[in-house]
Amino acid sequence: METAEIRRRWLAFFENKGHTVVPSAPLLYDDPTLLFVNAAMVPFKPYFLGQQTPPYDRATSVQKCVRTGDIEEVGKTSRHLTFFQMNGNFSFGDYFKKGAIKLAWELLTGSIESGGYGMAPERLWVTVYDDDDEAAALWVKHTGIPADRVVRRGMKDNFWSMGVPGPCGPCSEIYYDRGPDYGQEGGPAVDEDRYLEVWNLVFMQNIRGEGGGKEGYPILGDLPAKNVDTGMGLERMASLLQGVDNLYEIDEVFPVLAKAAQMTGKVYGEQSGKDAATSHPDDVGLRVVADHVRSSLMLIGDGVVPGNEGRGYVLRRMLRRAVRSMRLLGYEEPALPALLPVSMEKMSRSYPELRTDFARIGAIAYAEEEAFGRTLTSGTTILDGAVSRLKAKAGAGGAVPVLSGDEAFELHDTFGFPIDLTLEMAAEQGVSVDEEGFRRLMGQQRERAKADAKAKKTGHGDTSAYREVADALGRAVEFTGYDELRSEATVVGLIQNGATVRSAGAGEQIELVLDRTPFYAEGGGQLADGGRIELVGGAVVEVRDVQAPLTGLSVHRAVVVSGEVGV
Ligand code: ALA
Repeated sequence: METAEIRRRWLAFFENKGHTVVPSAPLLYDDPTLLFVNAAMVPFKPYFLGQQTPPYDRATSVQKCVRTGDIEEVGKTSRHLTFFQMNGNFSFGDYFKKGAIKLAWELLTGSIESGGYGMAPERLWVTVYDDDDEAAALWVKHTGIPADRVVRRGMKDNFWSMGVPGPCGPCSEIYYDRGPDYGQEGGPAVDEDRYLEVWNLVFMQNIRGEGGGKEGYPILGDLPAKNVDTGMGLERMASLLQGVDNLYEIDEVFPVLAKAAQMTGKVYGEQSGKDAATSHPDDVGLRVVADHVRSSLMLIGDGVVPGNEGRGYVLRRMLRRAVRSMRLLGYEEPALPALLPVSMEKMSRSYPELRTDFARIGAIAYAEEEAFGRTLTSGTTILDGAVSRLKAKAGAGGAVPVLSGDEAFELHDTFGFPIDLTLEMAAEQGVSVDEEGFRRLMGQQRERAKADAKAKKTGHGDTSAYREVADALGRAVEFTGYDELRSEATVVGLIQNGATVRSAGAGEQIELVLDRTPFYAEGGGQLADGGRIELVGGAVVEVRDVQAPLTGLSVHRAVVVSGEVGV
């Protein structure tokens, strides 16, 4: 059964049972505790907490989610995807444990002809929270599952919260037995590869406080109502209903993997053992490519752009890991223009906007690959040089050579090498990195930048760099904004941290001077214009503010969204 069909059946089933179908929220959601939406319940949180009154008692959705905590595990196990979809059904003070259990069982074991997923009941196991006798009894009574396939587990496994203060409650999980080929007998407590968790029913009734990891956090009290929040992993279900070994082989993910294999001349699976744990590095690499290309597509689709912090950094890291995996597999050409459209073709079945918006999505991804190519070339040379020096110094049989914090910082600061790339590449060559030293230097740089910004605000800034650019131009910047909103112009100066520079890369803040500009600089009681600058060669710069620190010199305060900008 195709993923899109599993999704369709889900929504139809719950709609038929009186649930309102709610479209997926974007991955970027206005919740300060989250980088990205990471569960289907996120948009409904205010309803659970009683902060807002829901317009319905029952809802269902298929929610786009990103979890990047386990990014290093991608491709090495069969169960880790960074982007995935979570199907949920929700009750806000309406049905509770019995209703949730009966609905889940009906959909899972209902015949294919009647709109269900047709799973064999004898393959299913369930878990309940330690002292939840009520749920254990309901399972046996209403589904006929034998009591010995109802397993009790503690807080770590069967009590769910968002990981932060907020709604929580005991949960009950449904597992599918993939059979003896996948591991030992004994149920989910023994082997979670053989027994694959497909659906989590959370009986959302409590509110939790700070701290305590997964197990020890304080329960502060009860929510205003007894609710239900469930989550079924769409990709996991697809892997089962498509009879494939792991999540990278389902219909929405595999075509990118196959394309990457074809481009690199690799035969997927040929060199690996039976399970993901004994995978050959080439297969792991192909899976990383498939996962990260899809996640990047979805993130850019929802408005994330590559950057050096927060969400932008997560995206940058995934794009770069995908590109680097292709290089390690032997492919040196730009890879994303061949891979991203394959992912779009698959994902646009459920998300048609990816197709209509693809020119923009592609431009951002391809520019990032290009910028990374330049970074890799210069940074790799420096890193390799440092590594061979260190190795020579350490000599044979000595201690593990360590790359200093200074060197890691220089790679970051001068060559735009992200620290985790340095860590990864150094580790591949048997060198460790003084990460603490690196972080210290980063902290110092941040302090300097803060002090600088303060100096600028209070008017103690140094204007010599502006003077230098103004002198080189030899006249006032021509203002074209009275007649047009778009103009062609030449970049005549770039300033960063009070000094002129020749170029700046994606993610960097920059002050940019053009020979002519339609952007109005703040003055005469009028606010500055904002907008975009597109450079020949494809780089994109977003203008956030325009100031005239010297008469006749408009300076665009901007951030380089993608590509590289030069004078
Ligand atoms: N919110 C629950 C989860 O994410 C269903 O597992």
